[in-house]
Amino acid sequence: MAMYKRTYRTFSADETTDLGRHIARMLKPGDVLALYGDLAAGKTTLTRGLAEEFQANQPATSPTFTLINEYPGILTLYHFDCYRIKDAREILYLGFEEYLDMGGIVVVEWPQKIETFLPEDTIRIRLIRSESREDVREITIESPEERHVNFGC
Ligand SMILES: Nc1ncnc2c1ncn2[C@@H]1O[C@H](COP(=O)(O)OP(=O)(O)O)[C@@H](O)[C@H]1O
Ligand SMILES: [Mg+2]
Repeated sequence: MAMYKRTYRTFSADETTDLGRHIARMLKPGDVLALYGDLAAGKTTLTRGLAEEFQANQPATSPTFTLINEYPGILTLYHFDCYRIKDAREILYLGFEEYLDMGGIVVVEWPQKIETFLPEDTIRIRLIRSESREDVREITIESPEERHVNFGC
């Protein structure tokens, strides 16, 4: 499958939230986003932008202890955090495959834990912290659909 890829650079948490809002505008029901990156890379910060754009009922926070947070809005966000998952099959017990078919947006932090269950057209976003500048992040979006990566900002 051909992939489009583009890297954005943000200089603050607010800019990453803004990028999330831009991405949200390009999404359609059923889309899946996989957010790769170490602790504090900005995965949840970006998700907050998605939730804001969809006018979620509350701000997105880290689902680390709950494994999944659900935010009803214009589109419902299903926000998974797979950090604590040891066996990929655990995500099936949480109903992951059903969430893929609910007509919302599925967002996954630590997606490498469940790689085999991600759909082929998953939008992959890699967030990397700058080694020298504390508030700088390099954010690379990769998707089979060009509109997910090129939205003119
Ligand atoms: N450019 C930036 N983008 C995102 N977060 C940033 C940025 N600069 C600083 N930060 C800070 O880094 C932290 C990112 O945390 P979080 O989004 O929870 O990361 P993750 O979910 O990847 O562990 C927050 O404290 C945020 O304020
Ligand atoms: Mg997080």
